Amino acid sequence: MDTKADVLPFDSKYDSVKKYYGEVVQKTSDLKTNACCNSEKLPGRIGKIMPLINNDIKDKYYGCGSPIPLCLENQKVLDLGCGTGRDCYVMSKLVGRNGFVYGIEMTENQIGIAEKYINKQMEAFGYSRPNVKYIFDYIENIPKHFEKESLDLVTSNCVINLTEDKEVVFNNVYQVLKFGGEMYFSDVYADRRVPSEISSDPVLRGECLGGALYYKDFERIAGKVGFSDPRIVSRRPIEIDNREMQNLVGNVKFYSITYRLWKLKGLEDACEDYGHVAVYDGQIPDSPFKYKLDDGHIFYKNKPERICGNTALMLSETRFRKYFQVSGSFKEHFGVFEDCSNVEQDNASGSGTSSCC
Ligand SMILES: C[S@@+](CC[C@H](N)C(=O)[O-])C[C@H]1O[C@@H](n2cnc3c(N)ncnc32)[C@H](O)[C@@H]1O
Repeated sequence: MDTKADVLPFDSKYDSVKKYYGEVVQKTSDLKTNACCNSEKLPGRIGKIMPLINNDIKDKYYGCGSPIPLCLENQKVLDLGCGTGRDCYVMSKLVGRNGFVYGIEMTENQIGIAEKYINKQMEAFGYSRPNVKYIFDYIENIPKHFEKESLDLVTSNCVINLTEDKEVVFNNVYQVLKFGGEMYFSDVYADRRVPSEISSDPVLRGECLGGALYYKDFERIAGKVGFSDPRIVSRRPIEIDNREMQNLVGNVKFYSITYRLWKLKGLEDACEDYGHVAVYDGQIPDSPFKYKLDDGHIFYKNKPERICGNTALMLSETRFRKYFQVSGSFKEHFGVFEDCSNVEQDNASGSGTSSCC
């Protein structure tokens, strides 16, 4: 492993979480809720890679979503709280020989498994040298390992809820991303601020519920560090089958949400209309007929769509620029972008929430 996790100040704070993932739960089915246990059907391109991944890695998968976006070839990616490395290995295959994936993780038992299989996984993917590296450390220490503006993408699967200071985490991510890069991640969010009897319960915390942010507070933190206009990709309610836990949780509702946050100059906190139009060329690998940017935006091949200024930036200043013809400028403002609904909703996401307007 690359670095020993710093002893202080984090060890005491994270003892119970490390114990939970290092000792208490041994496999996915040991979890008491479906919060950190994503049973969603995997997209085909990811499903095809799964048989190439060792069972020891998959048996200790505790993710709550599918935070692996399209267009990963040649990307430099960091996965926060990578656990045994399932998502890192999927992305290792998707970024290809010229891309690179880092995973950072604080629980020794978890990252030990990720490390153990590097050579076997590289062999399974047909790579002559590793394009994955695991860093045994806290997410809070990201600035020690990465230069500013050095990464294309940061992912994370059911981790940030476990961290003590979410603003530090999002700020770290913002700093290390290049302009045009994104954070694409799944995590647990609550419909209100979680009361202290829930947040202080070690099992609820370990199960990714106790530390969940109220989604509006998340939006505020994201905006504060520079990630304006967070976009929801998908959302599913978390079911709590365990009676004892239901009694503790009461009326608080939890959701697993996949968000995408962009680091882009000029993003505004709301969707504004400058008269932009976008046309998708159908060339994104694995997405020949339509491309879903987020819950409120699906682009059909060759069909022009009116878009707000923020969406124009997300399509024209990022790795997606080669697949979209975006016309318009920011010279004239036509007011708030009121008609996001002219972009068809993908009801399959089950969300019904538009992240735009
Ligand atoms: C719910 S598990 C998810 C693991 C992995 N992402 C997956 O999908 O299987 C959360 C992981 O985050 C790690 N973690 C939590 N807080 C962390 C921190 N501050 N720094 C590094 N790792 C952390 C835990 O050790 C645990 O392995």
